[in-house]
Amino acid sequence: MRLSVIGCGYLGAVHAAAMASIGHDVVGIDVDVRKIASLAQGRAPFFEPGLEEILTQGIESGRLSFTTDMAQAAGAAVHFIGVGTPQQAGGYAADLTYVNAAVDGLLPYLSEGDIVAGKSTVPVGTAATLAPRVHEAGATLVWNPEFLREGWAVQDTIDPDRLVAGVPSGSKGDRAADVLREVYHPSVAKETPFIVTDYATAELVKVAANAFLATKISFINAMAEIAEVTGADVTQLADAIGHDARIGRRFLGAGIGFGGGCLPKDIRAFSARAEELGRGESVAFLREMDAINLRRRDRAVELVVNALGGSVFKKNITVLGAAFKPHSDDIRDSPALDVAVRLHGLGAWVTITDPAAIENARRIHPQLAYVEDRDEALRGADVVVVVTEWDEYRHQLSPHHAAGLVNGRIIVDGRNCLDASAWRGAGWTYYGMGRP
Ligand code: UDX
Repeated sequence: MRLSVIGCGYLGAVHAAAMASIGHDVVGIDVDVRKIASLAQGRAPFFEPGLEEILTQGIESGRLSFTTDMAQAAGAAVHFIGVGTPQQAGGYAADLTYVNAAVDGLLPYLSEGDIVAGKSTVPVGTAATLAPRVHEAGATLVWNPEFLREGWAVQDTIDPDRLVAGVPSGSKGDRAADVLREVYHPSVAKETPFIVTDYATAELVKVAANAFLATKISFINAMAEIAEVTGADVTQLADAIGHDARIGRRFLGAGIGFGGGCLPKDIRAFSARAEELGRGESVAFLREMDAINLRRRDRAVELVVNALGGSVFKKNITVLGAAFKPHSDDIRDSPALDVAVRLHGLGAWVTITDPAAIENARRIHPQLAYVEDRDEALRGADVVVVVTEWDEYRHQLSPHHAAGLVNGRIIVDGRNCLDASAWRGAGWTYYGMGRP
């Protein structure tokens, strides 16, 4: 099938390459000349395992191309909209400028019977607002949200847990759902759940899923706060409650909390949208989740300050991690980088290392010191702070080896990812989040 993908950021670039990898002819379109030039050469403009391989394969097979020319969308049977919906400057609501521009830019190139499939995360009600324009052009609008996780984006796109299609009622909607089934034929063949629903439900599935995940993380972090004043251990608590299959252990990782380009902005946009709809109170708890989440960053800073006897002024602090999570170079709303910046603000000499995110971090926070080599970063540290649970720190850093590099054997584990007894056994003072 011939497909176009409008917007070649995280979502769109991965979607375009993944669709080519399952046999479609795909054109990726974006207004960013540099991004398109990079993608056209098979180079991913961001770190995502497996993406460059499928980009290169797609381009070499002739099935995948990239352009800044919207006219190239003409002739595709399905046009995916994968542009960003960032948090509005000075507010909580989602900024729909790019979604509107993508749809308006596409309209002149639509043919009768085309499908326009929105993938971006949008406030509920957006598809219903866009539909008249698309339908007037003879095409059908569907909302087909994306659930990919950074670091697993290729796998999540090619082999998702479920597919959701919000379609208009009637035969047009039925046909659109059938076309999407054809697009996602390998998943359909595997009997991946394919949920056909209305626009509002499809839009809500995405934000509800993210709100639920954020709530799960903040819930366990709230328990960490209680653990801190009672001497309990939140990791054991999470293990114990996680054995209940109704609860499950995943996303009960207490630490410095969630960040990234999705969860924080999506729960804020959801709150803002609910308020617009007169149902702010229904999701008022999300404000609390956001607040708990941000408090954990304060707590990490407090642990470091206390560990150094009440002041970090002119102390050498090595921060292990900058990305908002491992397997990513993304520093958007990164709790890791936020903790580092705050320590620097308190007068510490902060040295940051990260396997993938240094370049991005340096661009935004040039005032901090960055070191590529982990061991070099550790040399002379008065305290070590783990803020992103990369394998390089979690499994590959021996406490005995690290002890030989630092000035003071103090480690603050902002992700509860280290073996506390092994570090203590090697002579370190270990502090976790919500752990005695
Ligand atoms: C998330 C959703 O998982 C994905 O389905 C959606 O499409 C986009 O948003 P992503 O932002 O890539 O994906 O990251 P995710 O793996 O969900 O992690 C989000 C944040 O939560 C990270 O900062 C991570 O460190 C943190 N986290 C995750 C915890 O603090 N504890 C956990 O137990 C799990």
